[in-house]
Amino acid sequence: MNIVVGITGGIAAYKAVQVVRELVLAGHDVHVVATEAALRFVGAPTLEAISRNPLGTDLYEGVADVRHVALGQAADLIVVAPATADFLAKLAGGQAGDLLGNTVLASRAPLVVAPAMHTEMWQNAATQANIATLRERGVITVGPAVGQLTGADSGPGRMSEPSDIVRVALAAVATKDLEGLRVLVTAGGTREPLDPVRFIGNRSSGRQGVALAEAARDRGAEVTLIAAHLEIDPPHGIDLVRVETAAELAAAVADSAADADVVVMAAAVADYRPEAVADGKLKKESLGTAVTVRLVQNPDILRSLTSGELTPTRAAGQRVIGFAAETEPDDDRFLAIARAKAERKGVDYLVLNRVGWHEGFGTPGNEVIVLDRAGSIVGEAAGDKVSVAHRILDLLV
Ligand code: C5P
Repeated sequence: MNIVVGITGGIAAYKAVQVVRELVLAGHDVHVVATEAALRFVGAPTLEAISRNPLGTDLYEGVADVRHVALGQAADLIVVAPATADFLAKLAGGQAGDLLGNTVLASRAPLVVAPAMHTEMWQNAATQANIATLRERGVITVGPAVGQLTGADSGPGRMSEPSDIVRVALAAVATKDLEGLRVLVTAGGTREPLDPVRFIGNRSSGRQGVALAEAARDRGAEVTLIAAHLEIDPPHGIDLVRVETAAELAAAVADSAADADVVVMAAAVADYRPEAVADGKLKKESLGTAVTVRLVQNPDILRSLTSGELTPTRAAGQRVIGFAAETEPDDDRFLAIARAKAERKGVDYLVLNRVGWHEGFGTPGNEVIVLDRAGSIVGEAAGDKVSVAHRILDLLV
């Protein structure tokens, strides 16, 4: 997507760099338009390096390309962060005295603004009237948040966190093709305790599952995320159920799966758990030099869902997506293992990826192949985990 990030002259401009960064990492082509005042807070080289595009400030640069309207016309989305009281006033008044004003006025793209200013300025009747006018015209506002401001004061006026701004902005342009659907996603790695301080776990970071939950939410679905151990914060705007073990995950899936239209089993579930869990910390003094831990098999949650054992009923037309992470290096054998798994698990789609010591886990990117139940390849995706999530949802749609 072609995104213009407008930056106006407030101290929160330093955080706008992070907004640009997150949008670039999500695979978007980002053009920064900063006001003269913004450049007193953050440097042009920083913005050009992070956005990977030339910075726009001067209305009279690039005149031959009619840049004062070209940027706005080409944009699929415009995000202004921070938006000062002065910028909001100019926007409400339809002023186009600088490149950012021209860009915004010359665009039909959704406009998201993240106001940031001192509490008194935010609560001033003029600012409130301007923001009401802008909202009425369809401008989407994020924040301001309540919290510490630049000085010793705190209150409403703090710019929302960059990740929240990015989330709201991307949701504004997402197609709502999952509107009215309930989507259940499991993510992260389960942990099977040995004693109160130790567990057997796995290297799943939960990033792909979280990206699927976010993507489904942005496309209008009502999302429940059952999260085993995650290395990242869970998303906002979804129902979150935290679990530790495979047994807890199974119980949570049993609670939510019956009326889910889509179940996405992205969690890395332990196949085995220690047979006995010690009440107190295990001590090497009493265990000796070698220890044997007997493991017993966990139920296969996915299999029991598709076979109908897990829930008394399932929503009509429920679609189930399973995941398979394999270390098999040979392509043919890799696909054969996955085809057998798709059939055994009874899923509608199986998302495959290679994992190993240095691939698959904890990385921002992923590369997947999607099989249907019959084992035919129905799609492939590579890129950051959010784009991979959208591609998987595209196939589902
Ligand atoms: O058999 P394998 O663990 O490779 O299968 C992976 C798929 O099965 C994933 O979708 C995972 O969430 C699910 N699974 C499960 N219950 C288990 C093990 C895996 O639902 N005990």
